[in-house]
Amino acid sequence: MKAIQYSSYGGGANNLKHVEITVPTPKKDEVLIKTEAVSINPLDIKVQHGSFRPLYPKGFPCVPGGDVTGEVVEIGSEVKNIKVGDKVIAMLNVYAGGGLAEYAVAREILTVQRPPEIPAAEAAGIPVAGLAAYQALTHHDGIKLDGSSSDKNVLITAASGGVGCFAVQLAKLANVHVTATCGERNIEFVRSLGADEVLDYKTADGAALKSPSDKKYDLVIHCASSIGWSTFAHQLTSHGKVIELNSGPKSYWSVALRRVTFSKKQLVPLSFSPKSDHLEILVNLMKEGKLRTAIDSKHPFDEAEKAWAKSAEGHATGKIIVEF
Ligand SMILES: NC(=O)c1ccc[n+]([C@@H]2O[C@H](COP(=O)([O-])OP(=O)(O)OC[C@H]3O[C@@H](n4cnc5c(N)ncnc54)[C@H](OP(=O)(O)O)[C@@H]3O)[C@@H](O)[C@H]2O)c1
Repeated sequence: MKAIQYSSYGGGANNLKHVEITVPTPKKDEVLIKTEAVSINPLDIKVQHGSFRPLYPKGFPCVPGGDVTGEVVEIGSEVKNIKVGDKVIAMLNVYAGGGLAEYAVAREILTVQRPPEIPAAEAAGIPVAGLAAYQALTHHDGIKLDGSSSDKNVLITAASGGVGCFAVQLAKLANVHVTATCGERNIEFVRSLGADEVLDYKTADGAALKSPSDKKYDLVIHCASSIGWSTFAHQLTSHGKVIELNSGPKSYWSVALRRVTFSKKQLVPLSFSPKSDHLEILVNLMKEGKLRTAIDSKHPFDEAEKAWAKSAEGHATGKIIVEF
């Protein structure tokens, strides 16, 4: 089968090779999917870069890609709820990869049905970005999508990115007040997703995260990088929380500092969990027309390296999709 591989850390899109490899065989609890679309995530780029070495990727050569949709063509002996011919969305281990190939194996418990209402490209964009947005909003601050958290005031940074686009829409489904940051070119787009107020991150007020209506934030879903704690501290309510998607050593130092000083304002590093019940919630919202995948661009498999390079640039508006 056709696949994309890299054989060493680094090198970006230039280090990706089109190769012919053997079709994988599903284990007893796995399904084999004929791939229709895959989304590229910044996490895929970070794995190639070596940000998680020596743990990931698990070895070289590596087929990257974790967000996959397609048709099931074979099932393992213990698979119960999925059959050959089903259209599915699967969460492969994004750190280990396997998605950018004609066929991919996925665990049954991390695979959900794809309703006919959801096109393949939109489906492929959901897993990592959708789950990160959903879990950041609902897990750590208990925002409820049923609208019962409507008194909350939420800031979403990098709202034009893959995660941010989902976060804005989900926050508006929860009926909270949303302030969002993005570049000037995306202000109208982010408003169209439902944001109440939008800040251009390159202006002074945008860099200071200052709410145009002078509101303090109960919760920040922080999808951008390079914003220091002191900037957030000024803009949070007394019990405000920052859920940080880009956590590094500095974040953990900051978390420790908040604890020893008994600060009520918190920084919470997020590591999303691939959970099929959460993915099903997002798929159902999409089926009902309440949520959509904003798509930056679609690239044919033969030009997958262009998709990779686009993601690595860090200027996507929504999700970058590779189609077969
Ligand atoms: N911890 C986890 O579990 C987890 C899960 C998923 C993702 N992540 C991380 O979350 C981050 C966001 O992911 P993503 O998929 O949304 O990325 P993305 O799609 O690549 O985000 C790109 C967007 O971010 C905007 N942007 C960049 N810097 C900004 C800033 N300082 N202020 C406002 N907007 C800014 C860009 O706007 P311009 O083009 O105008 O600059 C662009 O539209 C990534 O670092 C990713 O690795 C973490």
